[in-house]
Amino acid sequence: MKNIVLIGFMGVGKGSVARAMMKHSKMVVLDTDDIIESLENRTVKKIFADKGEEYFRALERKIGRWLRKEVTGTIISTGGGFFKVPALKKIGTVVLLNTSFETIHTRIVEHPNGIKKLKKRPLFANIEKAKSLYDERQQQYLKVADIVIDVTDKDFDTIAKEILKKVKK
Ligand code: S3P
Repeated sequence: MKNIVLIGFMGVGKGSVARAMMKHSKMVVLDTDDIIESLENRTVKKIFADKGEEYFRALERKIGRWLRKEVTGTIISTGGGFFKVPALKKIGTVVLLNTSFETIHTRIVEHPNGIKKLKKRPLFANIEKAKSLYDERQQQYLKVADIVIDVTDKDFDTIAKEILKKVKK
């Protein structure tokens, strides 16, 4: 059985949607940032600060190769830049969670843990820079996605069921 790879911008809800999908299917979830953090025994934020972004990207590529070779039938939640690993589509069906930058930003800011969520994400430290990264990536996300899900104003369970239905077709 093919993996389902969730991609999309920081804060769009990949992790929460992946967990909701696990509830509504027999599949289990792996998260690329979690794998990297346990591999390195430190947070993504700390990896960026200590070793720089390119070091982190190399780890993403390493995890990408491992997923392609060793993992099947799994829901894979990814970091916002993971979609750039070579041969992404060979890992599984690529599902883009899509919404506007404004929606993502409002959701993070209004979340009870919002400040913590922002602090965790080095590339979200500066709003203008995050917005231009969003603009730069939008076309690239759409290009690589097999399935695009508009997540605006939908709860995680609804999104999860929509994905599972579309993937089965
Ligand atoms: C990144 C997104 C983050 C994390 C890292 C880089 C990106 O994951 O992998 O900070 O390049 O968009 P989330 O999308 O889960 O925030």
